[in-house]
Amino acid sequence: MRKQQNFRWEQLSLGTCYYPEHWDTGLWREDLRRMKANGIFTIRIAEFAWNKIEPREGEFTFEFFDRFLDVAEEEQMKVIWGTPTATPPVWLTEKYPEALNCRMDGVPYRHGMRRHYNYNSPKYQELSERIVEKIAEHYAKRSCIVGWQIDNELNCEVDEFYSESDTLAFREFLKKKYGTLDNLNEAWGTIVWNQTYTSWGEIYVPRTTIHNSTNPHQTLDYFRFVSESCIRFCKMQCDIIRKYMKPGDFITTNGMFGNLDNHRMEDACLDVYTYDSYPNFAYCLDADPKNNKMLKDRKWSMNLTEVRSICPHFGIMEQQSGANGWNTRMEAPAPKPGQMTLWAMQSIAHGADYVSFFRWRTACVGTEIYWHGILDYDNRDNRKLAEVQRIWERTRAVAGAAGADYRAAFAVVKDYDNAFDARLDVWHGRVEESSEKEIFVGAQEAHTPYDVLYINDWTDPEELRKYPVLIYPHALILTEKRAEVLKAYVQDGGTLIIGARTGQKDMNGHCVMAPMPGLLKNVSQSDVQEFTFVGPADEAVAMNWNGKTVETGIFNDILETDGPDAKVLAVFENNFYAGRPALIETAAGKGRVLHFGGTFTRENIRDFLAYTGVLEPFRDVISAPADCEIAVREKDGVSYLFVLNYAAEEREIVLNREAVDLDDRKTVQGKVILPAYGTKVYQVSIPHLIYAPRGR
Ligand code: GAL
Repeated sequence: MRKQQNFRWEQLSLGTCYYPEHWDTGLWREDLRRMKANGIFTIRIAEFAWNKIEPREGEFTFEFFDRFLDVAEEEQMKVIWGTPTATPPVWLTEKYPEALNCRMDGVPYRHGMRRHYNYNSPKYQELSERIVEKIAEHYAKRSCIVGWQIDNELNCEVDEFYSESDTLAFREFLKKKYGTLDNLNEAWGTIVWNQTYTSWGEIYVPRTTIHNSTNPHQTLDYFRFVSESCIRFCKMQCDIIRKYMKPGDFITTNGMFGNLDNHRMEDACLDVYTYDSYPNFAYCLDADPKNNKMLKDRKWSMNLTEVRSICPHFGIMEQQSGANGWNTRMEAPAPKPGQMTLWAMQSIAHGADYVSFFRWRTACVGTEIYWHGILDYDNRDNRKLAEVQRIWERTRAVAGAAGADYRAAFAVVKDYDNAFDARLDVWHGRVEESSEKEIFVGAQEAHTPYDVLYINDWTDPEELRKYPVLIYPHALILTEKRAEVLKAYVQDGGTLIIGARTGQKDMNGHCVMAPMPGLLKNVSQSDVQEFTFVGPADEAVAMNWNGKTVETGIFNDILETDGPDAKVLAVFENNFYAGRPALIETAAGKGRVLHFGGTFTRENIRDFLAYTGVLEPFRDVISAPADCEIAVREKDGVSYLFVLNYAAEEREIVLNREAVDLDDRKTVQGKVILPAYGTKVYQVSIPHLIYAPRGR
């Protein structure tokens, strides 16, 4: 069962990231006053400032931030304090090189960047504990402090750890998990290629090999180990801060990165989750051209959907406010007028109640001189500051939306075992990544908002019941408990859609010697007889679904019915399996399972959503072009309809019923023109989502 979110922002509010140590002290007060004049009443500080508090080992000085917090309190500025462990000082790594993280070949990452430490060095843990304790002890009672950020972007930049300390800790993790080497050898299939271990000391974190191909079962455990290590490091800091923090203050961290069970971290130690949203990455010089198929900056709505699954009412600790760029990489153009607002509204539409811009002023020194903030080096008022001012007005206009819930028509089911496995297994990774992105694009273009729902062995069935339709695209790994929860959901009236490869593996990543879809077979009453990926040289494979030709994606499971309640909905149209079942529907209890022998595409997802009755749930309220996003948040029976135009040109939308434009409080209906990058928020009555089952 998930923990309830401990902390929520009571009102929509704005913040910024401020680095007092980067600026002349004479600028502090003026900066804070200018922030307030433009709607910013909260700042995050200190997350890289270890040296300012412990300039030499064991020498602590609080004077610098005491002075700054005095100014903050005089100016009534609220402060979120970031613990400084993302960047150990040079005195530390010089004296204790074991604190450094290493590349896979064992070469340490040196000083000069950040996040060059590992979570498992006892020395680094000890020094981190001490600095966090000193900071919390000294500053937690300050009235300006409202919250704490742990570290900075845990697992960002690098999410693999190969130091000596990691190997030692990995052995302990494995001893606890397996008890005996026999168990471990069995779980890791070490019989293959003479990997059998005869002592714990022979085991390492994955190391450099030919092609860097490592034992997949070992790597799966290794990713779980990295996640556990990170959560332990985060929790260690949270436990310390909790001893000192004032009631009502919160602890967060700014995520969301790989090899980390963010949900578990949230439940184990945080009060609220925050995310760093940089949609301008879509326009970087080195942006992945595939991203063009991914709706560019709108792709961040997919990330925000994930964030919402971790914590429904989250914050944005860093929101894009200028062009990207380090002095070495990641250059992107300046946001066009309106884009800053668009991206801030995108965050709010998806559930953010706090939006903090990165950063107040662009750094004049260091790696990040091109990662632009609100103000530029010259410190003059500019159009970005004017846009912040306008965003402030907008947040006041939609103040009622604070704490409102996002309304989803269906959910995509995920879990970390499959996420980790998809990262190490090319077949798994390819189908997972493709379906995930394609479902997102298809659902976005069809104005069908959805949630992501992570499950595990202790998921409460109630969490699933909220959704009429669940899509679990490629659950290669299944467990008895998860299969039970899914079955209960179906019996209870839900529609479960599963795709190719479902049920291939167990928790160790072994392929199960049983027909797929494995543990779901008795409810799906279907059988995978054969399978193949569709190679680049193959012609695309389609299925015939009720007379319509529908894509089947990049991988095909050739199905057969296997029970009295299963019926074939569609058959493959080509390749050597033409005429054989591609989609099977099975009634079970009050619900049904759709077993699809393919991967999801932006085209076929519409057919699935239409068939299951959840396509375009707000169509009675609004009609909008595909390049505008629609989102609805609801609180106390009041619905807030967000319309976001990502296009560089104006777009026409049609309000099919009366709505109140929250910017000017005028009632409108019919055609409305949104300017390039324009956004609107309407208060409108939407009694309930329109689920119209069509296929049953
Ligand atoms: C984030 C990070 C910030 C800053 C920003 C721009 O990932 O948390 O500290 O570096 O990116 O690069």
